[in-house]
Amino acid sequence: MLYSKLSNDIADQCRLVGLPVESVDVVPSQRDDLGHFQINSAMTLAKTLRRPPREIAGQIVSALAKINYLTNLRVDGPGFVNLSLTPDYLTRALDTLVTDPRQGVPDLGRSRGMVLLDYGGPNVAKAMHVGHLRSAIIGDTLRRLALFLGYSVLADVHLGDWGLPMGIVLGELLDRDPRLATMDPQAIAAEWLTPTIDDLNELYPAGSAKCQSDAGLMTRARALTARLQAGDASLLAMWRRIVAVSVAASEQDFARLNVHFDLWHGESRAHDRLTSLIASARQQGIAEMSEGALVIRLPEADGTEDIPPLILEKSQGGVMYAGTDLATIADRVETLAPDSILYVVDQRQHLHFEQCSEPPSASA
Ligand code: ARG
Repeated sequence: MLYSKLSNDIADQCRLVGLPVESVDVVPSQRDDLGHFQINSAMTLAKTLRRPPREIAGQIVSALAKINYLTNLRVDGPGFVNLSLTPDYLTRALDTLVTDPRQGVPDLGRSRGMVLLDYGGPNVAKAMHVGHLRSAIIGDTLRRLALFLGYSVLADVHLGDWGLPMGIVLGELLDRDPRLATMDPQAIAAEWLTPTIDDLNELYPAGSAKCQSDAGLMTRARALTARLQAGDASLLAMWRRIVAVSVAASEQDFARLNVHFDLWHGESRAHDRLTSLIASARQQGIAEMSEGALVIRLPEADGTEDIPPLILEKSQGGVMYAGTDLATIADRVETLAPDSILYVVDQRQHLHFEQCSEPPSASA
């Protein structure tokens, strides 16, 4: 603000004394012993006007004498004009900044376009870890800054609600309450005593440990995940209740942190879109079968390191994180039309985002 006023005022005065300038080349001084700013325009003007640069610099200096907040105006070297702002002017400018609620940042309304922020990303039925905490804090800071600067912002929590952990938890629940297997979806919705968040915090690590040591249980968890994703009504009824419990707990955690989200969407939201995305990837020959799974092959990242292929669909059926994230982009672009999407995630997501942002291999 201060700088644009300075350059406008200087250009105005130069024009008043007949110098043919549209704007003036004024920059912070490279030698602070000589002043705050320097004007380099005399050298360029010298060529157009065919007059000595120091003479033109002198003309600029006398023209600028009218600007009462400038001091130490003088010509140096081949034709530089050095100048400073008066202490009084600087003090007043700083005072205005300090008392201005926007600290001098212009309010442009919501004219800078829409940014969609994706941060937080807690996983249903799993406790949050420090990576979630860090992204939430950084993400919410970006949200506030973007709003302040005049962007429209939508912050999406992007819950991890659709992957293998869901199958692991469902398997563990079925083992602990065998009646669930015979309950119909309405009964599950109406009568099932939903686990609490404390139950869930205990259920997932227990179920996960069992699956790690028992291949049969892992296979079942995969199959349950695939059945859930395929729309099994009873599993969906259980899943909905688990998601609701997790969302309520996350809402509380984020409220305590003063971290806000506008959208509480999850990976699951993009499922239908993923189904059509998979169909078109197959049709266009971008995706191919490899060891029973449907994958997109990716080129080498920097010529030295191979990126593992992006798995769209596993051999036993069931979609995965990368696929849902791609479909989520399609969903966001189509339904929310953001100008940009920013992700704030843990470093451990590095490979995932590399896979999602890499164009498919030409050979595919
Ligand atoms: N659920 C992920 C995790 O636990 C974070 C999700 C980040 N957002 C995304 N669109 N992939 O780390």
